[in-house]
Amino acid sequence: MARNATNQTLKNARSSKSDEFYTVLSDIEKELKHYRQHFDGKTVLCNCDDPRISNFFHYFSYNFEKLKLKRLITTCYKNDNVDLFSQNQAEKAIWLEYFGDKNGNLVPDINEIGVKNLDGDGDFRSPECVKLLEQADIVVTNPPFSLFREYLAQMIKHDKKFLIIGTWNAISYKETFELIRQNKLWIGINSNRNFSGFIVPDHYPMHGSEARIDKDGRRMVSSNNTCWFTNMDNEKRHERLILYRNYDPVAHPDYDNFKAIEVGRVNDLPKDYDGIMGVPITFLDKYNPDQFEIVGSDYDVKTGRLSKLVKDGWLGKVDRAYLNGKRMYARLFIRKRRPIA
Ligand SMILES: C[S@@+](CC[C@H](N)C(=O)[O-])C[C@H]1O[C@@H](n2cnc3c(N)ncnc32)[C@H](O)[C@@H]1O
Repeated sequence: MARNATNQTLKNARSSKSDEFYTVLSDIEKELKHYRQHFDGKTVLCNCDDPRISNFFHYFSYNFEKLKLKRLITTCYKNDNVDLFSQNQAEKAIWLEYFGDKNGNLVPDINEIGVKNLDGDGDFRSPECVKLLEQADIVVTNPPFSLFREYLAQMIKHDKKFLIIGTWNAISYKETFELIRQNKLWIGINSNRNFSGFIVPDHYPMHGSEARIDKDGRRMVSSNNTCWFTNMDNEKRHERLILYRNYDPVAHPDYDNFKAIEVGRVNDLPKDYDGIMGVPITFLDKYNPDQFEIVGSDYDVKTGRLSKLVKDGWLGKVDRAYLNGKRMYARLFIRKRRPIA
């Protein structure tokens, strides 16, 4: 019930296209502390962030010196909808830049922040925002969920380092998954329940037990369906998953249609099996590219990219893996990089 409420809430965010889910500071700090080494001397861009309320702007401006940043740029989207939480009611969208503390109080004072007007509405796709993107080394934000595909495509096109929040469902978008498969994108440190929740506007419907007013009076929704996406290295990616189980043809049965075995839980991965294994998408949270190779997904079999996985002579369905006639949940196909993990 609670899970449905949350998924429904995120679905609402996507379908309403309002995307007004605001990130709390502690969630930003909890993730960003794992990437400190990447920021020395860098220009950071937060390009979906109203500096008046964005905790991304807050985090980077207050930690500017600690992270040894060179420059912080923030662009603010102005939407026609005056109801928006971000209250973007100013005549124009703005962008601002900060070069660090000048007066020695280590606080970003208003006179140290350059606020400038944008010609357009601050859409991250607009030429003036793309110009700012080109000046950045690293982009960090929580972009609108409904524009995630376009947002990610822009990061890749402009060859940027990034750390962004998205929904867990975005993993199964074919463009996202292909980047993950090619090791050009991975999941960050915190996901799902590790997020404390998102702040939502007053008009946002508060469904079920996942919605609450927190101790500071903020309207919050929890999320069990969110993760960080990044192309910056982190320590978790290099942790080897310890495998305990031995391969057992009963516990690890062959699929009806694919040349692979079913491993329904990441904890059940066998330590002595060198062939292809089907695993749930949650595996990505434990994925170490030195230990495992991602061969593809069931979607890749369906589209023909991974047709070699279909059993010889199989004439039945290939839309998903099937086990004893039962259609499985979405599966990734992986194999160990080394014979013994
Ligand atoms: C999920 S909210 C997150 C806000 C903020 N980054 C944070 O984490 O607190 C996404 C933000 O993107 C803004 N937005 C929506 N469409 C946009 C666009 N095309 N370009 C830039 N920002 C956009 C929304 O107004 C909203 O403030």
